[in-house]
Amino acid sequence: MNIDNRPIGVFDSGLGGLTSLKRIKALLPNENIIYFGDTARTPYGSKSIDTINRFSQQITEFLLTRDVKMIAIACNTVSAASLELLKQKYPEVPFIGIIDPMVASLPDLIKDNSTVAVIGTEVTIKSKTYEKAIKQSLPKIKVISQACPLFVTLIEEGLHDSPVMDALIHYYLDDFITENQPDYLILGCTHYPLIKHKLASIYPGIILLDPAFSQAEKIEELLICLNLRADSEQKAAYNFYASDLSTTFRQMIGTIMLDEQYSLKFTELKI
Ligand code: DGL
Repeated sequence: MNIDNRPIGVFDSGLGGLTSLKRIKALLPNENIIYFGDTARTPYGSKSIDTINRFSQQITEFLLTRDVKMIAIACNTVSAASLELLKQKYPEVPFIGIIDPMVASLPDLIKDNSTVAVIGTEVTIKSKTYEKAIKQSLPKIKVISQACPLFVTLIEEGLHDSPVMDALIHYYLDDFITENQPDYLILGCTHYPLIKHKLASIYPGIILLDPAFSQAEKIEELLICLNLRADSEQKAAYNFYASDLSTTFRQMIGTIMLDEQYSLKFTELKI
């Protein structure tokens, strides 16, 4: 069996991808990780596809200078906008998006004939990536979606536990939930697990689905399939990079890493 201790690259527009990293870390505790958060340029979700393509290529180039063996896109917006382009431009790199693994695991998670709601950024929702993929694999499922553009900005500001966040949730989702009565709600943005507790208490009875779990499982499957697993005896190293070392980014890493060792560095990406 081959052992490959090169790191897995994980990236997001900001701190949201840390919710995915938490799942990867829990499932694959011996895999070295390089995380990049583009905190200086977040949010991506209301930017043009061209800009998101450019940013995600820059981040890929940066991660490749760190000799990553695989890149996990911990961002629904980039997965919707740029995954296919990245695969074409860097055919030698195994990329894993976050939308496909979620959709692939749905048959095991949801009941037939149910209604699934997807919430995400403007780019993710407008792309209809979730809707098309779900309809293709599960034609009996009703899929509805709603963009919640300001959630990311508030979360990056560290306001995910504030009354402003409650007001914004009601503003974007009350009518949508009342009209459609979904059985499940896919958190189609990696920032949203940080407000999962609020969504659960405002809309009890709806089952919340966090794609980070399926993505971590898919990463494990791919590592096995490509023979890229790290030494199972080793303790993983975690290196975080951000284009702006914001207070919230630092705090969020602290809550995930607790008293474990890690490094955190600023890195500038030239446009
Ligand atoms: N966490 C990103 C996602 O999953 C947020 C996108 C943004 O920066 O707007 O879509």
